[in-house]
Order: sequence, then C-alpha cells, then structure tokens
Amino acid sequence: MTSPQRGNARPSVLDDPQWWRSAVVYQIYPRSFADANGDGTGDVRGMIDRLPYLAELGVDAVWVSPWYPSPLLDGGYDVADYRDISPDYGTLADADAFVSRAHELGLRVLIDLVPNHSSWEHPWFKAAVAAGPGSTERDLFIFRDGRGPGGDEPPNNWGGMFGGPAWTRVTEPDGTPGQWYLHLFDPSQPDWNWTNPKVADEFDSILRFWFDRGVDGFRIDVANSMAKDMALPDVRVDPLTGYGTTESFEGAPAWDHADLPPIHRRWREVADSYADTELGPRVFVAEAYLDPIERLIRYVDPGRLHTTFNFDAMLSQWSADSQRAVITKTLVAHHTVGAPATWVLGNHDNVRVATRYGKAVTGIDFSADDPFSLSSLEFDQQVAAMPVDIELGRRRARAAALLELALPGGAYVYQGEELGLDEVEDLPEDSLQDPTWERSGHTVRGRDGCRVPLPWSGTEPPFGFGPSDRQPWLPQPEHWAGLTVQAQSDDPTSTLNLYRAALAERHANPALGDGVLDWHPLNGGDVVAFTRGDRFACVVNFGAAEVDLPAGSEVIVASSPVDGGRLPGYAAVWLRL
Ligand code: NOJ
Repeated sequence: MTSPQRGNARPSVLDDPQWWRSAVVYQIYPRSFADANGDGTGDVRGMIDRLPYLAELGVDAVWVSPWYPSPLLDGGYDVADYRDISPDYGTLADADAFVSRAHELGLRVLIDLVPNHSSWEHPWFKAAVAAGPGSTERDLFIFRDGRGPGGDEPPNNWGGMFGGPAWTRVTEPDGTPGQWYLHLFDPSQPDWNWTNPKVADEFDSILRFWFDRGVDGFRIDVANSMAKDMALPDVRVDPLTGYGTTESFEGAPAWDHADLPPIHRRWREVADSYADTELGPRVFVAEAYLDPIERLIRYVDPGRLHTTFNFDAMLSQWSADSQRAVITKTLVAHHTVGAPATWVLGNHDNVRVATRYGKAVTGIDFSADDPFSLSSLEFDQQVAAMPVDIELGRRRARAAALLELALPGGAYVYQGEELGLDEVEDLPEDSLQDPTWERSGHTVRGRDGCRVPLPWSGTEPPFGFGPSDRQPWLPQPEHWAGLTVQAQSDDPTSTLNLYRAALAERHANPALGDGVLDWHPLNGGDVVAFTRGDRFACVVNFGAAEVDLPAGSEVIVASSPVDGGRLPGYAAVWLRL
C-alpha cells in the first residue's frame, strides 16, 4: 500500500505488517472526542475532522472505544448491535469514511470488541427473555433458576463489578417471576454463553465484518472473561461488598478460565487469514487486569493474541523502585514469549495520570513483596478523597510520558493525556453516568471524571468540542481554557508540544519502539535510566533532588528545563549520548 511517510527512519505503519510491535496508539472515546453535529455528544464526523490533528501529533494508530448502537448504560460497552454505528455517532458510511481517511493519513485503526457480554437491548437477548426457560434462545446467555423458596435467591453468590449481585431476575412470558441471568458487569450487560457454538460463530462473523471494512484490529474488552466454570460455584465473600468476589485468583470460576485460550486462538486464526490482503494480518490487544505477569503473559503466547496492556505500569506508584520493578518484570516476561510490551498511562476507566501523580498516594508499590494486598475499591475510595497538587501531578505526568514512549514495545495515549488534562473530580452528582454511581448506592462516583469532553479551542466551555451554543454531555471545568489544543499549540513548553517532539523522535529514531533496553550507570536510587541502541538514553528522576546528566550529552527533549547539565526533580529527559 502506498501511504504517507511520516518521519524518516521507519516504513509507514501501513507498509509494515509488524507495525503493532512499536506502535503508539491513540485512544478515542467517541462520546467525548469531537461533536460535529452539535448535539453535545461526540460523533464519527467529529473524529474524521480531527484525524489530521492526530497525524500531526505523530501517533501511528487510533483505537476507537465502542461506537456501536447502545443504550449507553455502560458508556457503550453494552452493545445492542455489533455490526452498526450508534445513530448518536453517525452511520456505517461515516465509519467507513473514518477508516479510509485514517489510512490516507497513514494511521492504522483498531476498534473495540466486547465479547463477554452484550446489551439487554441486543435482539438475541430480547428473544431469549421472550422465549422462556429451556429454549435455544436462552442458551445463548447464562440463565439459571434461582435458589431458595420460589427461586427467589440468585443462583450463586457472585457480585457484579459495578456493585450488587451478578444476577438479575426476568419476568417470564406468562408474567410470573422467572429465571435469573448472569452479568459480571451491569444488569444491562448479559453475559454470553461461550459454550454455545453459535456464540463463537457469531463473533468470528463480527470480526470478519469489520476486517472486511478495513479495520486493522481489535482491542478486546475484558479478554480474561468469556470462559467460565459452568457449575457456577459460590466463591469467597468480599466483606466490603457482601458478595462473592469473582476476582482473578488462580482457579477462579469467572476469569482467566482454562477454556479461554482456545477462544483467543480461534480469533487469531481469523485475523491471520487476512495475511494476503492489502492491509496484512489483523491484530489484537487484550484488556485483562491480571496478576501476576506470569499469568498475563500466556495471553500473548505464539498463536494467541498479539499484545496485552501492561496495566501495572499505570497502577504503579510514582517511585523509581516500583517502576523499575514493573519494567523489569514486564520486559523479562515478554522476552520469554517474543511479544512486545504494551505501555499505558491511562484510559477511560482510570483516574487521569496528572491527577493520580498529584496525590499523596500515587499507586501500588510493585517493589513490595505483596503488592496486591489492598482491595482496589477501598484503595480507590481513600485516594479519591485526597487533595491533589495538580502542578506536581502534571510535572510528573510529563516525565511519565517520556518514560512510557522510550520503553521497548508499543504505547497507548488516552485522549487528553497529550494535553495534560486532569481528572474532573467535582462533576455535579446529577451529571454522573457511570453505572458504578447507582450500583454503589451513590458511594462511589465512578469513571466519568476521565471522560469529560476534550477542550479544543476558545476560552470557555465547550472549548470547541462542539458549537458554542451547545454544552457537552459532561460539563468541562473553566480552567481547561489554558489547556486547549489551540492554547498549547504555539507554546513550546506545553505538554502537547512535548508529546509532538517525543513522537517525532520516535519516528525518526530506529532505536525506539520494539527492541531491548540496557540499564545506564545512572540507574539506581530515585533514578530510572536506560539506553536504547548506541546513542539514545532516557533518564527519569523520581526524586526531588537534581541529578547530574552524563557529560557531553545532547538533550533531545525534556519534560522540564534542563540547565547546566542537571535534571531537576520529578522530570525526565531524552539524551543523545
Ligand atoms: C472494560 C471497559 O474498559 C470498561 O469501560 C467497561 O465498563 C467494562 N470493560 C465492561 O465492558
């Protein structure tokens, strides 16, 4: 395929079947990216309009979070039709135009596959409810009779990820209280029954539907679920929620089950069957929050999935010891299977990095003997209540970006990270949409604070997200006036220009992306330092005190000004040695 050459050291990602090993992928959350039709919600036309911005930023690919028809009860991860576009976002023709335009600009396109569950508005689920117990329609989902007198109790003690039980009871066609269906997430997200061959066939066909339209790959939502112990046994009760926890312990019945690998391998065969097409074989990235890495690494075994997000780096606290431990474990584990690592600083499910790094507790200490002793709900609630020093957080987030983009492998940038956006922690309660808010009885606010629509231009909301007379679906904070794309574009010290400079170097320097690193003599104490190739070094200072940089080195890009060869505290630099 003839495609634009961006940078000068690498072939265009469109000419390179191994593109995914080094790619920087930008995550678009469609609802919050750009609103072209002025209804307060982002849309595909808005995404098309802004594609040149992403090409200029210097990323290699985009990943689009679900854009399918959906009642949006979990932000689109409740899919009512896997082969169409939500009318709120546009049409299939718009999606096709988006994919072609991205390719014209030299960008690959990943979209989201949500295979564990659908929406309760999916026609097959509606048919299952209507068809009654014992029907072939019900067997596509996980329906069971309840326990106790009258079947009034759920079939087991599992809790849902957003709070409450993982089961909801339906009313049978004759009007009587009926069976229960399983939903690991919200009641609006019934789990598919992956032991039914029709489900597997349907997902093969969905993959082909989008591959045939030119999509380069999929991010796989909760790639560690789908297969389950169909005996559906009770599990240990979490004292915090009162429900059985379906967490991913070894042998857990709902996550990382022994029947999962064949599902992934089957998808891989579908993706590989496109090897002879113009776009080449298609690819997958797994979303799986799974520890320890020895278990996660099985997801990228040869013949299984291509890449899997390494969330530990995102969840790690701001400390050299913890980050070094994560980097080492991640690279060693990936080396054993020949897959590239996949670095992430944030996404639509996690507190924005600039805010996280501005709190007194910045994350998990992965250098500790037992890094997983804290319940995540308890931990998240404690941290959410802490005040934030946003200047400190942003300074550290800039350094983290240079670390992420220098490490071997691929990297993901969540929309707005390149602007240094902070989490909006004070959204009005009546604007909250995350199912967690309702399901937790209004005790956990959930993830809306990282999903606030992007600020593009102007000095007041909606900051160019859409027309000025229409406010977006979540309110933007006034202080984003200084963080718009427009405000940052001409400021050489802005976070946007830091990303642009780093991504330009990544394109121009073949030592970056996939490959290996060597620790540099400066590595140790509060400093993480490594080299790539003969002349490139990345030095990150996690401490407050200045650090002397190697004599004679040239600064390529720095997250904070480097004066007199000294790297200030909470800063990172890329050097030409
Ligand atoms: C992970 C997605 O990233 C998240 O937003 C969603 O709520 C769950 N999976 C359920 O689909």
